[in-house]
Amino acid sequence: MPKFLILFGNTALLSKLEFEALYPNLTLEPLEDQLYAFESEVDLVEEMIDVLGGTVKIFTIVKELANTLTNEELVEEIVAFLLAQSKEPYFTFSQIGKGQREISNADIKDLIKENGKKARYFSSELSESALLSHHSEATEILSYRHQAEDKLLLAQLKSVQNIDDWTKRDRSKPYADRKKGMLPPKVARMMVNIALGLWKQKNQGQPLLYDPFCGTGTVLLEAGMRNLDVCGSDIDQNAVFGTRDNLEWFKQEYNKTIQSKVFYGDASHLDLANFSRKADLLVTEPFLGKQTPLDHELANVFRGLEKMYLGSFKSFAKVLNNGAIVAIVFPRVETSKRTYSLDGLIDKLKTKGYNLLVDPVLYAREGARVARQICLFSFSDKDNI
Ligand SMILES: C[S@@+](CC[C@H](N)C(=O)[O-])C[C@H]1O[C@@H](n2cnc3c(N)ncnc32)[C@H](O)[C@@H]1O
Repeated sequence: MPKFLILFGNTALLSKLEFEALYPNLTLEPLEDQLYAFESEVDLVEEMIDVLGGTVKIFTIVKELANTLTNEELVEEIVAFLLAQSKEPYFTFSQIGKGQREISNADIKDLIKENGKKARYFSSELSESALLSHHSEATEILSYRHQAEDKLLLAQLKSVQNIDDWTKRDRSKPYADRKKGMLPPKVARMMVNIALGLWKQKNQGQPLLYDPFCGTGTVLLEAGMRNLDVCGSDIDQNAVFGTRDNLEWFKQEYNKTIQSKVFYGDASHLDLANFSRKADLLVTEPFLGKQTPLDHELANVFRGLEKMYLGSFKSFAKVLNNGAIVAIVFPRVETSKRTYSLDGLIDKLKTKGYNLLVDPVLYAREGARVARQICLFSFSDKDNI
């Protein structure tokens, strides 16, 4: 079976969960912080880059070489590969892994020149060159010294995330409310995919996804990208109208025919009458408290949030199917003295039918006072009746 390298974004733990939830039959082999290897049929890999929110690039392993290869020999391999690929190579080369000795793009170009051929290159950081690689016809090559297997892997970029399209959904939708905090679309997509993947491992059919704190509808749009029927609500009427506008824009822009419904409602007093059917996936980022709370306010803020979360979880039970998956953001604040979180809620939720599936994954934006903890639960209504 063909082998691939996959480069995750900077929330590698969440990206890995996303991959494993959607592709439970594939095994990820950890190589470096954000780099993993896997084997798969090519067909499955074709769709991955558009499906996954947490993956930056996928490379095909084109050659497995001896780890004893000198730099000069490696440059010769790369040049032979490039000259076999295109008339005038336009390329970039990066190396990852311990024991690498620097090879520059210029070294490769020089040898191509010595072969009487022309070449151009661009240089950039591996994870940051996504935009350039996405726009250009360039050949991107990566070498990885696999110490454990005593091999040197040479890989060629197969697919790269379409940054323009992610930015479009983030920036061009008609309604935005940055004061309230909007979930980055890639994080929303990862949460949707993890919930969807886990649900599909035990259920069949077309699940309904619900976001009870929909805000601007980021989660609903990403679920729409996965062709799911969606339903959302919010206690703010502007958010309700805004999310409806965003969904109409999304359906037109992406030519989607998904079912959607958005209504006004308090998440802690939900009414099943608002739903066409019970939901199978609940993916949401609730109110996380103010964005920059002062130290002395935190104890109170978290007490209030715990009460709101608990009330909401009790209310979710009315509208969730047995076996539903919940992917939800919990707030977390670290001060010099202590950490404030809602971890204490997790045990209480067990008695309400919610079982934590994996350890919460932290997603913290640089400089943000309130970090997000992504928590995953399965819901069983049996314990609850
Ligand atoms: C952090 S924002 C969600 C942002 C959303 N994920 C996005 O990307 O646009 C939280 C939302 O929860 C809503 N909200 C706060 N308390 C609520 C409640 N009790 N019931 C329903 N919605 C509530 C707020 O109006 C706000 O739109």
